[in-house]
Amino acid sequence: MGLPLPKTLLDTQSPVHIINGDCHNLLKDVESHSVDLIATDPPYEISFDKQSWDKLGSLNWAFLADEFKRILKPNGTLVVFQGWSHVAQTKIILDDRFTLKNWIIYDRVKGRGAKHNLVSTREDILWYVCNENTYTYNKISSTIKKKTGGSIGKKNGNPYRALSNVWTDIAPIVPWSRERVKHPTQKPLDIMLRIISIFSNVGDVVLDPFCGSGTTGVAAQQLNREFIGFEKEKAYWSLSLERMSSHE
Ligand SMILES: C[S@@+](CC[C@H](N)C(=O)[O-])C[C@H]1O[C@@H](n2cnc3c(N)ncnc32)[C@H](O)[C@@H]1O
Repeated sequence: MGLPLPKTLLDTQSPVHIINGDCHNLLKDVESHSVDLIATDPPYEISFDKQSWDKLGSLNWAFLADEFKRILKPNGTLVVFQGWSHVAQTKIILDDRFTLKNWIIYDRVKGRGAKHNLVSTREDILWYVCNENTYTYNKISSTIKKKTGGSIGKKNGNPYRALSNVWTDIAPIVPWSRERVKHPTQKPLDIMLRIISIFSNVGDVVLDPFCGSGTTGVAAQQLNREFIGFEKEKAYWSLSLERMSSHE
């Protein structure tokens, strides 16, 4: 099966399938039940960098949730990042359509400064499945070594702790990060590699409708998944194409 998009939307010569446009429109063209994993980091709608893409109310979450449900395969998975201030509202909408498997907290340790509030280092990651009985879950370990010296922890021969739903072991993107590109909310490649490894298999179709600088795409490519991305801002779309093409 080819990728689940109309040919008119795809540059069939290119191995990289990232489309410049608003996902509210583009999602309508994706075939039903064709995507294995939607892994996405949408705007948190907090006017983070005063640009139009992160304005409150810019997303129609009920529409997006319905479209996600329509295009995911019956055993598909949805992994959505959110910020603490909007996660509750987003979760109510998604809970209506999917089964929540877990709610992961990514502690990026280095937070955004706050003079009159706590420093925010937390990002929420909601893991949903379409079907509670059949979904992809490839168990992996954390990168944190077990502290126990005795027989406990040595039983399975794995020196690393089981991966919990609080992730503290992935370095955030900071101004001096080697992988940093010109996107204000770039996610670390390691977190997308982890998400794609756990929640999809080689050859699966992964979609990121808010792909930004293309971190999900680069991770999907490195892990031999098919990738489709949508990005509204032309500058970020070009950046994501450039990033993915240089990894080809
Ligand atoms: C939080 S950023 C994603 C960053 C990405 N994870 C990365 O590592 O670069 C969200 C992205 O969604 C894009 N965006 C916002 N609204 C959109 C829409 N309606 N359709 C498609 N893209 C949109 C923004 O331009 C922004 O680049």
